[in-house]
Amino acid sequence: MDARTLKTEAARAALAHVEDGMRLGMGTGSTADEFTRLLGERVAAGLAVTGVPTSERTAARCREFGIRVSTLDETPELDLAVDGADEVGPGLSLIKGGGGALLREKIVAAAAARMIVIADESKVVDELGRFPLPIEVNAFGLKATEIAICRAAAELGLAGPVTLRMTKGEPFVTDGGHFILDASFGRIPDTRALSNALHAVPGVVEHGLFLGLADLAIIAGPGGIRTIEKNR
Ligand code: A5P
Repeated sequence: MDARTLKTEAARAALAHVEDGMRLGMGTGSTADEFTRLLGERVAAGLAVTGVPTSERTAARCREFGIRVSTLDETPELDLAVDGADEVGPGLSLIKGGGGALLREKIVAAAAARMIVIADESKVVDELGRFPLPIEVNAFGLKATEIAICRAAAELGLAGPVTLRMTKGEPFVTDGGHFILDASFGRIPDTRALSNALHAVPGVVEHGLFLGLADLAIIAGPGGIRTIEKNR
């Protein structure tokens, strides 16, 4: 089974948690794209839901598939957020932001009563950190922020390259108008400590550690679907 098929199967399984009338946080990324597509099929068949997209890209995709789009300002409390992840670690800790949408993804997940993560088996890890941690930063004072991030990480025994994400020769700019630093610190034993340390750096807008936000992970592997619930 190829990765796309696994992503589709995880997305399909998440549909079972969607009920008529729900206000949904709509994730960003290739796995979330599959969920959006499949949800569009259900909407075409009569399901009524409202989607709050986590990126401009997802908003366009929702419209393409006929899903009613709202903003978080219009619909500030959501029933369920469904999103992908770059890594799924212990206690449903996550690394997200490989697609650059981590800030809106985190705001939307926090506004949802439940968050379901959909992923293929390759995303599940024993400890977060194999995937470089995306850190969304203000463009002002970029170098100073980078130095402060490295100092904060070093105090936790973490080190590694921190690189400005680029696209087509220019810095990648998020939907919020910020830059992304990808931090290759390697394994992160104390995710909460790193989260707190990064939040203490003034130029950091948000980071891709999602701690205590996900309630359920739906993981698709060659042997089928398995679920991981919070606190297990
Ligand atoms: C977007 O910013 C990310 O958080 C994605 O949710 C994450 O990178 C997973 O993307 P894929 O489903 O494409 O792997």
